[in-house]
Amino acid sequence: MATQTGLGSMSLDLSAEHEELRRAVRDFARKEIVPVAAHFDETGEFPYEIVKKMGTMGLMGIEVPEQYGGAGMDTLAYVLTMEEIAKADAATSTIVSVNNSLVCHGLLKFGTEEQKEKYLRAIASGEKIGAYSLTEPMSGSDAGSMRSRAVLSEDGKSYVINGRKSWVTSGPVADIIVLFTMTEPEKKHHGISAFIIETDKPGFTPGKVEPKLGIRASATSELIFEDYRCPVENMLGKPGQGFKIAMTVLDAGRIGIAAQALGIAEAAYEASVSYARTREAFGAPIGTFQMIQAKIADMKTRIEASRLLIYNAALAKERAKTTDARYTTEASMAKLFASETAMFCAHAAVQIHGGMGYSKEMPIERYFRDAKITEIYEGTSEIQRMVIARNELGLR
Ligand code: CAA
Repeated sequence: MATQTGLGSMSLDLSAEHEELRRAVRDFARKEIVPVAAHFDETGEFPYEIVKKMGTMGLMGIEVPEQYGGAGMDTLAYVLTMEEIAKADAATSTIVSVNNSLVCHGLLKFGTEEQKEKYLRAIASGEKIGAYSLTEPMSGSDAGSMRSRAVLSEDGKSYVINGRKSWVTSGPVADIIVLFTMTEPEKKHHGISAFIIETDKPGFTPGKVEPKLGIRASATSELIFEDYRCPVENMLGKPGQGFKIAMTVLDAGRIGIAAQALGIAEAAYEASVSYARTREAFGAPIGTFQMIQAKIADMKTRIEASRLLIYNAALAKERAKTTDARYTTEASMAKLFASETAMFCAHAAVQIHGGMGYSKEMPIERYFRDAKITEIYEGTSEIQRMVIARNELGLR
């Protein structure tokens, strides 16, 4: 059913094309992802086959023009896809999100024609897996304080990269990584540059794989660079432009994480409504009790509010394609509210299900574990509040 809501003069009715995409992704997720989500969560195996199938459906490069191997669709299409995949399995949607927004978006916006032909095409078509590496052991929220280094070689042909990165989604399985590292440390933010890394070259090894609370099927690891030689033509953007690229790309990424959070929240909500209708206590379905009704009402209201913030951010990003305006605040508000909604709904869902919510026999405890990451990665809720407030107050 079309969304009957408008924001100001902007209509949020879904087009026939968006409806068709949503239906196709939902069918795929129900048939191919839902039945195996618990298995991949339990084993922590990477779902290669599912990723390959999503690639053939165009879901690994949704906004990338067809000329570079993508689906040539818009931000709303990306958001709808993220929501539907996350509803089935958050870990799988994490892989989709990193490939689409943190890697493809950056290559499309800042890459040279040669880089787009060589790397974007392979990643957007799902042939290769991409990752984005900003965080380091001593540099998380304070992303500008990184210690890894890239030094121009004497012959000027390559940068020699040394250092350790951490918490890299798809790190152990990626073919191509967009890496942020210091080229001129004395310039701080303006001394960070971005590089396109091929992981099958000497000097690169994925380090420790993180044993995680949730999104366990999305592989996360450290990356170790030891005298890795990156050709100068693999710099993304200009020397010193790396921090801007990292932040610009995260603005897009945060909209994807918001949509992921929405999908988790909806899965928790739908399971709760169904359980509240059928589970009986004291001779009546538990949905007839006001304390359960209050939870259902709050979940539904927060979900719909999240959706509006996400669609608003998606529209802002779409407008930015022609104006180049920033949509930082819209993206941060969507991520902040939707991720806290996911946690709220997952928490309420466990409570509504009681013991069954705590059992691995149902996916509710997985929603609870998966929801938490949306308040942490691509900028914690504290960072989102800081970004929104700084922008509103005109502070830096
Ligand atoms: N777009 C473009 N430029 C931006 C920007 C944005 N959204 N935000 C900041 N900048 C620019 C500023 O304009 C400034 O440029 P000038 O110096 O030229 O004026 C420069 O970047 C520095 O900005 P700040 O002074 O605001 O920088 P700061 O050190 O105070 O930090 C921050 C800003 C917002 C806190 C930033 O560090 C941040 O977002 N931290 C969180 C990092 C994060 O989200 N990490 C997640 C990594 S990815 C991940 O989670 C793993 C995964 O694989 C999914």
